[in-house]
Amino acid sequence: MSAWEKLYSKRISTLRPSPIREMLHVIRQPGMISFAGGNPDPQSFPVDLFYECASILKEQGKDVLQYGTTEGYAPLKEFLCSWLAPRMGRSLSQDELLITTGSTQVVDLLCWALIDKGDLVITEEPTFVGTTLTMHNHGAHFLTVPCDAEGMLVDQLPNKIEEALSQGKHVKFIYTIPNFHNPLGCTMSLERRKKLVEIAQKYGIAILEDDPYAYIRFEGEDLPTLFSLDDSGLVIHACTFSKILAPGTRVAWAVGNKDIIRKMAIFKQGTDLCTSVVAQALVYEYCKRGYIDEYLPHIVDHYRKKRDNMEECLRKHLPLEEVSWVTPGGGFFYWLQMKTIKTADLYPKALEKKVAFVPGESFYPNQNGGEHELRMCFTFASPKDMDEGIKRLGEAMRELLKK
Ligand SMILES: Cc1ncc(COP(=O)(O)O)c(C=O)c1O
Repeated sequence: MSAWEKLYSKRISTLRPSPIREMLHVIRQPGMISFAGGNPDPQSFPVDLFYECASILKEQGKDVLQYGTTEGYAPLKEFLCSWLAPRMGRSLSQDELLITTGSTQVVDLLCWALIDKGDLVITEEPTFVGTTLTMHNHGAHFLTVPCDAEGMLVDQLPNKIEEALSQGKHVKFIYTIPNFHNPLGCTMSLERRKKLVEIAQKYGIAILEDDPYAYIRFEGEDLPTLFSLDDSGLVIHACTFSKILAPGTRVAWAVGNKDIIRKMAIFKQGTDLCTSVVAQALVYEYCKRGYIDEYLPHIVDHYRKKRDNMEECLRKHLPLEEVSWVTPGGGFFYWLQMKTIKTADLYPKALEKKVAFVPGESFYPNQNGGEHELRMCFTFASPKDMDEGIKRLGEAMRELLKK
């Protein structure tokens, strides 16, 4: 027994490592073609434009190398308040915006503000494991709602909420990824968005709208954000520069009612004082020079080609009588559903053939589902690897179908 055992907090007994992060050593094996991690393609990073912005270190070094305010670097906040206005349905005031260290931190800070051990969070099922782990670490329990091609089946919400309330449970917020869902790839319809906001308002439950993929849209029109559909101040909108610039910046933001933003800022004071000012200043300079708007279409085109490529390879190599999917209109992911093959059988066989994906189980917050499902990220592999990797996956599936 290590000397640490008697020092650990009680919550360490419920600690869950991230299945995706834990897979990194598997993915890095030589010859492995991975569709597992959800990383942006480094080819999409605007390295030269970002490097140009580094000139500010010489001009403003004495300011940006200093600690900053917890709420965020003021010029960046000012920029975002107007840049975000079309999506948010109105211009924002600075006290409605908090800069965070990744949008993962928005989830963390909201949990600090809302979650006591055993409180309920409603999530789509499946949903992104990274953020539900954060909620789990805060002691949240999960009430889950299934999805179809139009997102969360919001009609199921009232019964589930009523039942939880009748058992004396506290339902604190509804967590949703409305655009190009991770892992499902689906987008919530306008009708469901309106209903979701109505239900949240009726029960006085907050909504955490996690929207990192909104700008990575390959076709069709933007749908209104939940934030813009709400007039009660119950929606917290989270977004990030991770997918529209680079995740290494770790610059993201939360938009919401000024009271909850203030509470989250106070928790942030005790978490990391402030998000890296250097990173915020570089991101601001990039935005101010117009590069964000200029370069975003390149990123979207780049990923659209990758999505098209994956669609073609899936159709070409997989047993279509066994596997189905909804083609994502944006974002990073395909969610494959198999009729009979168990993911637990497919996974080791795929690894033997040097191809990796994330098994569906990882995305079920109550760890009860996904036995025939898997997530494939299309952003990373080169066209050649995409073809070869999906061919190997198809072979693994056919071998299992023969058994
Ligand atoms: C749905 C979702 N939320 C949050 C994040 C984390 O983003 P960030 O890099 O801003 O912490 C991701 C990253 O993959 C994501 O897919």
